Amino acid sequence: MTTLERSLVLVKPDGFKRGLSGEVLRRIEAKGYRLVALRILTPTREMLDAHYAEHAQKPFFPELVGFMASGPVTAIVIEGDQCIAGFRSLAGATDPTKALPGTIRGDLGRDWGMGSTENVVHGSDSPESAAREIGIWFPSL
Ligand code: RTP
Ligand code: MG
Repeated sequence: MTTLERSLVLVKPDGFKRGLSGEVLRRIEAKGYRLVALRILTPTREMLDAHYAEHAQKPFFPELVGFMASGPVTAIVIEGDQCIAGFRSLAGATDPTKALPGTIRGDLGRDWGMGSTENVVHGSDSPESAAREIGIWFPSL
């Protein structure tokens, strides 16, 4: 049984604007995951509606999509055994106020007045999500 996986990581507009893409990439590489693909882009509404389809009915959806469309993000495909769960451990809890020190969100994130919305990074949460999300951000892969 192989556990080799790919995951879609985003350095969100808050992280990009603060110059944290390199630090996120450093932590991914230090952990030992391989960088497969990387691009910088400002996502379209269509991409974000697809990416966050599971949250379309949530009260935070409009604020989330507005924030994500507000500027460039760094989109990254990483690869490694169990890298989906592994990156989510690196990222820490969704709420950057509660994320533990040592994690990306715990060390680099905080509440800037939008609660959990601005939390530096995204990481796929399952192999199915990863395949779907990689198709949105990297159609050529
Ligand atoms: P992500 O998808 O970005 O890796 O984060 P996650 O799995 O930890 O969180 P998820 O539940 O999938 O939520 C997606 C993103 O929506 C924003 N959010 N805001 N205001 C709120 O209560 C709230 N809850 C979630 C965050 O940006 C979260 O990462
Ligand atoms: Mg999620």
